[in-house]
Amino acid sequence: MSPENGTLLALQGVSKRFGPVEALSDVDFEVHSGEVVALVGDNGAGKSTLAKAIAGIHEIDDGQILFKDEPVKITSPPDATKLGIATVYQDLALCDNLDVVENLFLGREEIEDGVGGLVRELDEIDMEKRSHELLENLAVTITNVRNEVGTMSGGQRQQVAIARSLLGEPAVVVLDEPTAALGVRQTAQVLALVKRLRERGLGVVIISHNLVDVFEVADRIYVLRLGKEAGDYVASETDQQEIVSAITGLSGNVGPDTAAYNEEPKGGQS
Ligand SMILES: Nc1ncnc2c1ncn2[C@@H]1O[C@H](COP(=O)(O)OP(=O)(O)O)[C@@H](O)[C@H]1O
Ligand SMILES: [Mg+2]
Repeated sequence: MSPENGTLLALQGVSKRFGPVEALSDVDFEVHSGEVVALVGDNGAGKSTLAKAIAGIHEIDDGQILFKDEPVKITSPPDATKLGIATVYQDLALCDNLDVVENLFLGREEIEDGVGGLVRELDEIDMEKRSHELLENLAVTITNVRNEVGTMSGGQRQQVAIARSLLGEPAVVVLDEPTAALGVRQTAQVLALVKRLRERGLGVVIISHNLVDVFEVADRIYVLRLGKEAGDYVASETDQQEIVSAITGLSGNVGPDTAAYNEEPKGGQS
């Protein structure tokens, strides 16, 4: 594909099996630069498996993955990171007892070989400065980057986790249920952050059970059902009823209740 339509990531005919279970069968999926793609489907539809295939946690059995039009092998998380694919999981992997700066730079502390504590201290100041810049740039409202993450709201924690994923300057960010368990205001903050990622030209894949959130933020809505593609819709050209029909496999006339898909998933993500 040409650079104008900016296909960042493309899965072609991808399948993934877990023993007898075909979690993904022959899936074609794309995300472009400056696009938010919502990945929706019922529990067990294969959403997390798709996210994990992109993230290098699950190696695909069949098909191929292209990154910026080049076939690539993603067989481990570092492979994905090196390409510029970042994933934020629902269980945020933040350390509650560390502050925002420490969480942002965890595992990538800017410590040079130097004499004693001086260089360390300078790096600490630098990390704090970069933390401020990053959060300010993303318009993330965190009053004190030295507050422990454990004391923060779910919305702030999610924003820290997303900000953290951006430090490696990825081209694609995958968010697995970023608004599950958040209140209305916090959800709005996280969705606003997702829109800013789009403005920066990133490709964003957002997994969500909440169709109100999906329609609020997505350019395209990709539906999985039982591991297969069940629809790929331009968000402005579809509605909740049509998406619910695709998710359930029932026709709109049967009247599945859209409200059922706007509840938070029970018992966390599978
Ligand atoms: N690590 C695994 N081992 C075995 N089966 C799995 C594993 N991960 C997912 N599955 C199965 O694959 C299917 C898709 O799961 P998943 O991708 O988690 O769905 P979703 O995220 O859409 O709820 C389900 O049948 C699930 O039980
Ligand atoms: Mg899941």
